[in-house]
Amino acid sequence: MRDAYILGIETSCDETAAAVVRSGEQVVSNVVASQIATHWPYGGVVPELASREHLRAIVPVVRRALEEAGQTYQSVDALAVTQGPGLAGALLVGVSYAKALAFALDKPLIAVNHLEGHIHAVLLEEKQKGNHEVRFPVLALVVSGGHTHLYLADEQERGWTYENVGQTRDDAAGEAFDKVAKLLALGYPGGPVIDKLARHGNREAVNFPPAHIKGRPRPGRGRRRVGADTPGMTFDFSYSGIKTAVLRYIETHNMHPAIEQRRRALAEMQSPKADGVLKLCDRQTLDLVASFQRAMVGDLVGKTLNAAGELDVATLFITGGVAANSELRAAFEREAAMAGLPAYFPSRPLSTDNAAMIAAAAYPKFLARDFAGLELSAEASLPLK
Ligand code: KG4
Ligand code: ZN
Repeated sequence: MRDAYILGIETSCDETAAAVVRSGEQVVSNVVASQIATHWPYGGVVPELASREHLRAIVPVVRRALEEAGQTYQSVDALAVTQGPGLAGALLVGVSYAKALAFALDKPLIAVNHLEGHIHAVLLEEKQKGNHEVRFPVLALVVSGGHTHLYLADEQERGWTYENVGQTRDDAAGEAFDKVAKLLALGYPGGPVIDKLARHGNREAVNFPPAHIKGRPRPGRGRRRVGADTPGMTFDFSYSGIKTAVLRYIETHNMHPAIEQRRRALAEMQSPKADGVLKLCDRQTLDLVASFQRAMVGDLVGKTLNAAGELDVATLFITGGVAANSELRAAFEREAAMAGLPAYFPSRPLSTDNAAMIAAAAYPKFLARDFAGLELSAEASLPLK
């Protein structure tokens, strides 16, 4: 069979992205226009601004992705677009543009779930490295600004199937990183800056007790798969408690004056880098940040490996923006090796939002001729099934 070139488009949050991927296994181009500078002064994504920036960027970003791939609008075999989940107005820009393009060019259109995209980022890069031996079932931890979800993923003849076996009960892990960074005036997004600052602090300085999840999972069920014999067995997360614990620590240790001073200093800098933020941090802040990250990593790794053991999976995927975290990667590599499980991550550029993952996830649907009609609509809460 000849190669298929799929143009992927992703606008679910604060990155306008387009990419061309060959046959689900080779990134030919990957363009990401980040809106960090736009949202930076607000300490988080402002939905209206995100939609406006997507409108501004979508045409040049798609054009550049085609040019860099040596492709044209006419030469690609299909278009793929993120249908959801994400910000409604942001998704709408990508979906409307992709529909118009598919209609004008008379090309097939493929709707992709953003979370499925994050999972396929891992598979895409493994195939690109020549690893075609991924063993199933896969337990995929999708950990980003909007999600902390565990999926049991399997490859079937007509594409992939996903079973949600756990998720956060409140804040997503990336959201906790972003909120803690905002509380401490470290800038936005919080994950990358906390990742860098944590290397300079004492991880043992502050003890954050692990979150207790009431009800489920059910203990002592042995190593077995989710199925009829284990109804309702899930492996959930919770991160609003640790954010509150950080706030309490700030208050009881009278850190507000130093935080306000840093907030003012940062406001005068244009998109400061982590090194610039580091110079504005005292020992107490660095220790707090390092201890926070250690607690987050410990919880994510511990719960995921527990689920992997209970569900008897063959492989672990860790993906989404937070999968870029260096301590998380090192801990997963160490702990998964001890459990005898292969653990795969995307490279850092494909951990955070991008369109190569969307084009890659579309490939099995392209083969199955699972195409979207022009009635396709953006769905902010689209579940992954
Ligand atoms: O996947 P992504 O780009 O967008 C969503 O789908 O949410 O993830 C963005 C999230 C943000 O919360 C950001 O703070 C977090 O990923 N993040 C990190 C790191 N890089 C990005 N969190 C921890 N450590 C990092 N190095
Ligand atoms: Zn994402």
